[in-house]
Amino acid sequence: MKIFSAVRPTGGIHIGNYLGAINQWISLQENNDCYFAIADLHAITTPYDQNTLKDKIFELAVTYLSLGIDPQKCAFFIQSKVREHTELAWLIGTIVPVGELQRMTQFKDKATQHKEYVNAGLLNYPILMAADILLYKSGGVPVGKDQKQHVEFARNAAEKFNKQFGECFPIPEPLIEEKQANIMSLKDPSKKMSKSGDQKGCINIFEEDDSIRKKIMSAETDTGSEIKYDLENKKGISNLLSIYSAFSKIEIPLIEKKYEGKKYAEFKSDLADLLISKLSEFKEKRYSYYKNPDLVYNMLEKGAEKARIEAKKTIEEVKQKMGL
Ligand code: AMP
Ligand code: TRP
Repeated sequence: MKIFSAVRPTGGIHIGNYLGAINQWISLQENNDCYFAIADLHAITTPYDQNTLKDKIFELAVTYLSLGIDPQKCAFFIQSKVREHTELAWLIGTIVPVGELQRMTQFKDKATQHKEYVNAGLLNYPILMAADILLYKSGGVPVGKDQKQHVEFARNAAEKFNKQFGECFPIPEPLIEEKQANIMSLKDPSKKMSKSGDQKGCINIFEEDDSIRKKIMSAETDTGSEIKYDLENKKGISNLLSIYSAFSKIEIPLIEKKYEGKKYAEFKSDLADLLISKLSEFKEKRYSYYKNPDLVYNMLEKGAEKARIEAKKTIEEVKQKMGL
């Protein structure tokens, strides 16, 4: 299947992002025709610093490459380097209703958050996103729940186009991993782990070893002593079990068995060792990419070249169908 997804270049990645979102891209690239973009054109619809945007794009590229995005298996590129994205966005913009754009939850949220910066780009954000997806005639779009409405907008746009100008686009499906456990904050396991929350509760994917150990050892747990998955009464331990299971690929019941009769401290210490060893692989790769930025930019340019081939074909077809 053809797959498209993108991510905005905004700051650090924590283990929740990795397990919840990036991992899905990494497994999809094995058996699909994947196009993964760094959505810099979307990033500029909210206040940003033009002096650091390039660094953020580079950091995001390095992060995804270090975690396992493989440019041999997918097209990994910077959105603005394939100009057909903006071209298709204009064309699609002429067939979608303004009312639908104004009703988008993300537009309403961001327009309230940044009252001084409600630009037309922010309103048109879903049009560009629909163009991203449709440009590659994608059938599947891996996203988090918060982006589902935007994928539905792209579906509507595709249906409308096909009806008005003749069959052109497949109707893309959002690929949302409902069963994927949310990783919770280590400090307050009733809240999602988040980079904007308490830093003590959040482990960055490139976190220093000492800091990983400190955060895991002081993770919030109940006063009991049993290492058991129980979301009602033992949120903290359940969260640690989820993390252990996700990184070790061992099923939770087997982990429970392994730690029967053992103390929380022993379990936590083993979990810290596990994380330190898994994340050290990522850190090593990151270090090697940082030392060699030309290699990274080269990979991104190769990805863009691959993307442009498909993008050009679609634009030609769309323009011809629209009578241009
Ligand atoms: P964010 O940067 O918070 O917008 O998150 C990007 C994506 O990462 C989301 O769409 C989710 O799929 C995933 N994600 C974020 N936080 C978590 C979490 N605590 N646990 C699992 N997945 C998460
Ligand atoms: N809007 C998405 C986000 O905020 C990023 C994105 C841009 C995207 N274009 C896309 C996601 C196309 C899926 C498909 O995360």
